[in-house]
Amino acid sequence: MASSISLTRYLVEKQRQHGHIPAQLRLLIEVVARACKRISISVNKGALGDVLGTAGSENVQGEVQKKLDVISNEVLIEANEWGGHLAAMASEEMDSIHVVPHRYPQGEYLLLFDPLDGSSNIDVNVSIGTIFSVLRKVGHSRGVSEEDFLQPGKQQAAAGYCIYGPQTTLVLTVGDGVAMFTLDREQGSWTLIQEDVQIPHDTKEFAINMSNVRHWAPPVKRYIDECLAGKEGPRGKDFNMRWVASMVADVHRILTRGGIFMYPWDKREPDKAGKLRLMYEANPMAFIVEQAGGMATNGQQRIMDIQPEKLHQRVSVMLGSKNEVERVTGYHQSPTA
Ligand code: AHG
Ligand code: MN
Ligand code: MN
Repeated sequence: MASSISLTRYLVEKQRQHGHIPAQLRLLIEVVARACKRISISVNKGALGDVLGTAGSENVQGEVQKKLDVISNEVLIEANEWGGHLAAMASEEMDSIHVVPHRYPQGEYLLLFDPLDGSSNIDVNVSIGTIFSVLRKVGHSRGVSEEDFLQPGKQQAAAGYCIYGPQTTLVLTVGDGVAMFTLDREQGSWTLIQEDVQIPHDTKEFAINMSNVRHWAPPVKRYIDECLAGKEGPRGKDFNMRWVASMVADVHRILTRGGIFMYPWDKREPDKAGKLRLMYEANPMAFIVEQAGGMATNGQQRIMDIQPEKLHQRVSVMLGSKNEVERVTGYHQSPTA
């Protein structure tokens, strides 16, 4: 039997080959992966584990929290605060940053996460996930504050997500391509299933919440109208549509077989840049997608170039197959082209 490669072995070998995964980062990734394993167990228990339904609280963004949003957040905090690899954490589900308590050593990394992505799918047994992003604490100032987190996505040291679907799969980049690991429940370990994941540059599949069509800006409407026109339209080919309403699941499909994902700005809340969060959703996914040969923009610029102003900042997102993202971004930049 061919020997399988575990996440630990993958990280150790990366560290040896390139020396660019410092020990603290390796530990961080393993701890996050372990936390995802725990979340996966809760997700799988569902009603039997009393984890479905709402928690009866709201997060800082005014969204109703599900029990699993809160549980997953706690699992990630507890798992990560004592290892000495982190200075602080920030989460979609917490108003402000969580600084590592003084009783533990402080590390050099900052961890950001969307503990449970796709909350509306929890109770209906559809794929959900955890998304994470890792930054270095730059500068030598004592203590850590929200400002330390406000770094553009291009400064991420690592990013990943775990999808809790028919299989539980961890997708990871440390800036050296994208690798996928599936949880082997009998062994209790993450096993490498694919290295050097590549997103095809062309696609015939788009993902967008079509119910918002009347609220979109003209460039997005034009792009989708052209896809819908199919073979007889300007694109000269038929397109297929998918929308899981869990970003992890939509991005995972795109990493597997290509496609474009969009959650653009729309007129419902014109003052918000978009629905998705820059620091917990857009940046980590943009890093993964770019590392897999895809592209990620907000219609105007590369997502990872955006200088964040606030921790919970929202952003318009278009990502996936390079030629399609380039096209819709072009429609924003020169609307008549
Ligand atoms: P979250 O559950 O973390 O709040 O994220 C949900 C996000 C994203 O996963 C998904 O693509 C999008 O919201 C779905 O939004 P709609 O329900 O508006 O389609
Ligand atoms: Mn989310
Ligand atoms: Mn979430």
